[in-house]
Amino acid sequence: MTAGPASSLASVLCCGTPVTSEAPDWLRRRLLDAAGSVPFCTYMEWVLHDPDHGAYGSGQLRVGPQGDFVTSPSLGPDFAALLARQLVAWLEALQPRDGESLSLVETGPGEGQLAFDLVQWIAAERPDLAQRLELVLVEPNPGMAARQRLRLQSCPLPHRWARFADLAAAPLTGVVLAHEVLDALAVERFVADGALWRRQRVTLHGHGIRLEPGERLEPDALAQLAALGLAEPGPQRPSGWSSEWHPGLEPWLEDCGRALRCGQLLVIDYAHEAWRYYAPQRANGTLMAYRAQVAQADPLREPGCWDLTAHLCLESLQAAAESRGWLPLGQCRQGQALLALGLAERLHGLQQQPQLGLDQLLQRREALLRLVDPGALGDFRWVAFARASAEDRAGQAPPLFLLEPQSP
Ligand SMILES: C[S@@+](CC[C@H](N)C(=O)[O-])C[C@H]1O[C@@H](n2cnc3c(N)ncnc32)[C@H](O)[C@@H]1O
Repeated sequence: MTAGPASSLASVLCCGTPVTSEAPDWLRRRLLDAAGSVPFCTYMEWVLHDPDHGAYGSGQLRVGPQGDFVTSPSLGPDFAALLARQLVAWLEALQPRDGESLSLVETGPGEGQLAFDLVQWIAAERPDLAQRLELVLVEPNPGMAARQRLRLQSCPLPHRWARFADLAAAPLTGVVLAHEVLDALAVERFVADGALWRRQRVTLHGHGIRLEPGERLEPDALAQLAALGLAEPGPQRPSGWSSEWHPGLEPWLEDCGRALRCGQLLVIDYAHEAWRYYAPQRANGTLMAYRAQVAQADPLREPGCWDLTAHLCLESLQAAAESRGWLPLGQCRQGQALLALGLAERLHGLQQQPQLGLDQLLQRREALLRLVDPGALGDFRWVAFARASAEDRAGQAPPLFLLEPQSP
């Protein structure tokens, strides 16, 4: 996602004085029930996914240029048309069992726009595949699912909403797409305190809330940090240096894996290698808040009204996936991926579309360039994994980006 200019958490938390933000009544009551303090992870889960007050749970966040932030698919249908080529190449190489259909699963579908554009492209360009394909949407937030239902009213493919847990009863053959969804999983934050790593907590002070260092991290968490090069704080990461990790990644990959008998998972998201993620100079991690096209770094501001999102750590994602039985297929930046899938040809092809008015032409051109901008969406990572039972491994998945650049 992208939005307007960002302020950093450092500028929010400067001067050594803890900043207190106002807590709405619902959050105050929750915190009082929890003896006044919860780990950051619990707070993030509440403010994003609470069905009444959470930014996604209540369905109040809007994706798109008129909403709270833009994502690649919300810039227009070109992103889906390029991505569809990769998904179709994978789908066409899969062999469902007798009587089984092929599934395209989108998890975290937001407004439903990406799913809609993908199936429109597939129905128009690969009608034979469309006849064998169903669309499955995995969305835990009822407020968001309600808008997806509206967007997909005229969907040309059979479609349904399901939870991974329901799908596990009869695992699917197909492709799972996770576009900007894993960055919405709640993160655990940790902070240096002398020679110790402590869990960061959100604590109630009167009517306000603050970020405060809590208990020492337990041995499992310390071992995980040590594997990422963070054995102990040390002089490069003085007291107050903080960052985060995603405790929900492994369970998510486990649930997703149980839902898929055979096929691929494509994760598209903000991500850094561990050395960049946990670099000493990144003293407040990667957490950002988005609302009304403004990006800022204070996660406690107006709880439940802002999207909170943190980058993925590539090594943590790879390790979690491999520990849950996923086979790595490769990863690259979005700019590279889209160019391999034909973005330059599509850009060039715009000139051969006389039906486009100048305004539309400039808008499409701008959107295509934004998708590969190395300072923004082009820096997103595409990370692919495969899943296959022993008997299916003979028909191994084709690699990521088997496609040669194609005509638009
Ligand atoms: C940033 S939006 C992304 C929307 C869309 N993929 C796009 O790129 O425009 C995040 C979406 O993921 C959903 N979500 C959050 N946590 C989820 C989870 N654990 N599983 C599936 N979806 C989730 C949110 O409700 C929302 O629909």
